[in-house]
Amino acid sequence: MLPKTLLSRGALLAHQTGLECSFSCKSATLGLRIQRAMSSVNIPPPECMLRPLEVPYRYLFGPGPSNVPPRILAAGARPIIGHLHTEMYEIMNDIKRGIQYAFQTNNHMTLAMSGSGHTAMECAVFNTVEPGESVLVSINGVWGERVAEIAERMGAKVHTMVKSPGGYFTTEEIEKALAKHKPVLFFLTHGESSAGLAHPVDNVGDLCLRHNCLFLVDSVASLGASPLLMDQQKIDILYTGSQKALNAPPGTAPISFNERACHKMFNRKIKPVSYLLDMTHLSNYWGNDSKSAREYHHTGPVSGFFALRESLAILAEKGLENSWRQHREVAEYLWKGIEDLGLKLFIKDKDLRLPSVTTIAIPDGYDWKELLAYMMKHHQVEMTGGLGPSIGMVIRVGLMGYNCSKFNADKALTALADALKHCPKRRG
Ligand SMILES: Cc1ncc(COP(=O)(O)O)c(C=O)c1O
Repeated sequence: MLPKTLLSRGALLAHQTGLECSFSCKSATLGLRIQRAMSSVNIPPPECMLRPLEVPYRYLFGPGPSNVPPRILAAGARPIIGHLHTEMYEIMNDIKRGIQYAFQTNNHMTLAMSGSGHTAMECAVFNTVEPGESVLVSINGVWGERVAEIAERMGAKVHTMVKSPGGYFTTEEIEKALAKHKPVLFFLTHGESSAGLAHPVDNVGDLCLRHNCLFLVDSVASLGASPLLMDQQKIDILYTGSQKALNAPPGTAPISFNERACHKMFNRKIKPVSYLLDMTHLSNYWGNDSKSAREYHHTGPVSGFFALRESLAILAEKGLENSWRQHREVAEYLWKGIEDLGLKLFIKDKDLRLPSVTTIAIPDGYDWKELLAYMMKHHQVEMTGGLGPSIGMVIRVGLMGYNCSKFNADKALTALADALKHCPKRRG
């Protein structure tokens, strides 16, 4: 836990101000009154802004963000440099290499978005789809719903394949829909965090290739936790987020496009709807185009990129396969502990369970909101309920990256057991 003083820049300022004031506090107060009386400012500084920042320590055992290790926090606290300085370009180049490793891709068009996972989601759709084109979206939780809405908003013809949370799509079902709707893009969520499902990805890339369609995969909740090999699995566009198994603060999102995706997005008839997310600009900003100079497009989140670089460095040091193994081992330990408490796992088939986010079927007779509130109040443990279509169906427990240990699994299980014991059980 960080000492409060580190979290409290406001306290330091207040202290400094106190020293300065100590010479003549009375005259300073009078001065302030006179200043206010003469001021053209009608709205006074808000009381809350004159109090120090307080941030509690929480065990972030929900579906993200996860706790950020001190090494990554320290990287984010390094002094800012200009976003167009050569040293920053070097750091961005490192990030590209780190993402290529994490994604297992040789794609040149690899970068990190200045924004959360949704930014990468929008970037992928906005750049590869033109208004009027057909898009196929598999929906088995909230993330497909989001992509369908994003594609619809930019004027695509959206077709959906829908299953209830926890369901998955067979290659036969996918192939049938590809043949019927002839989409330019097919979207699949690898780690469906709202349902706790790790969707099989093998062979889908081949199908998409055969049907002349780009294969877009969301790995926000699964990257680093569950095996995924972008090039080998013929994924055309892959994105993730910084705040899950990578353990960086929220706000940056790695993404990669292969040659097929680049061909589609750089041969458009009309410009993408978003200037900020236009890959012609972003590819230059990341030094991925053929121009010799990188130009100003937007001011990237410098501290966020420092932190992302460090998180990718930790993954590279640990090794992807070790990280996958660790997530699987800890998840199995957690799953057993959950069943020992008499609870039921939402995803029945072990091979389809997402190791980073476990879903528990809400136990009969309990109010899930009360269970979550109890754990937060008495254990400082965050778990969450469902999201979108899985609301009211599940409680979600995430042990990702830095948080992924048997020690933390025990902590989560203790909090759960205590909540089950103390929260009133109502009739089902
Ligand atoms: C699978 C998946 N996709 C996309 C997102 C959206 O990411 P963000 O909240 O960073 O925008 C999330 C976030 O929880 C997620 O779990």
